[in-house]
Amino acid sequence: METIYTWYGHATHGLRVGEHKILIDPYFTGNPAATTTAEKVEADYILITHGHNDHIADAPSIAERTGALCISNAEISTWLRNKGLKVHGQHIGGGHKYPFGYLKLTPAMHGSRLPDGSDGGNPAGFLLTTPDNKKIYIAGDTGLFGDMALIGDEGLDLAVIPIGDNYTMGPDDALRAVKLLRPKSVIPVHYNTWELIAQDPNAWKARVEAETETQVFVLKPGDTFSL
Ligand code: NI
Ligand code: MN
Repeated sequence: METIYTWYGHATHGLRVGEHKILIDPYFTGNPAATTTAEKVEADYILITHGHNDHIADAPSIAERTGALCISNAEISTWLRNKGLKVHGQHIGGGHKYPFGYLKLTPAMHGSRLPDGSDGGNPAGFLLTTPDNKKIYIAGDTGLFGDMALIGDEGLDLAVIPIGDNYTMGPDDALRAVKLLRPKSVIPVHYNTWELIAQDPNAWKARVEAETETQVFVLKPGDTFSL
């Protein structure tokens, strides 16, 4: 079974697991890095890490158009259900088996207030185990935390982590995160969308590959990575 990761720019991700199309943190409208639009992108499932606009902006409209099942924490799931959308609520530490694999919510050190001021609960990351046992960790927006080592104990094939600084880990802490997560491959995200989070991903790649066994894949928005 082939799993294909797509970076849509910023922290918007696609995963195709077999025939299942998963969209994570859809932010196309107003995203200067986006390479497609909320009107065109396909989704069977929409996963949302936290309530900030640059992660949830287009989730309601895409879910309405596609009929996708929205998966998030209990608070965000309720907020989406109240808009008439299909949801499955989970919470941190809890996993659930879907046709595309076993999805667990992981902790994230961040905020989660929704665009209209509603309480978005606690922010999360996602740990997906595909039906053929590939492990993919999408950190979401987070600072460095020591329990990344526990996530790393799962044996990660791919980690997708922020390096932009200011709102999330910057390059130094993201390098420390790689040392805790020990993934086979890592893809940096949440940088260069705006001047405030400008980073040099190739300089970061050189540091990570000099100090760890992990391979860094620097993607351009729209690029894919196959597992
Ligand atoms: Ni955020
Ligand atoms: Mn963000």
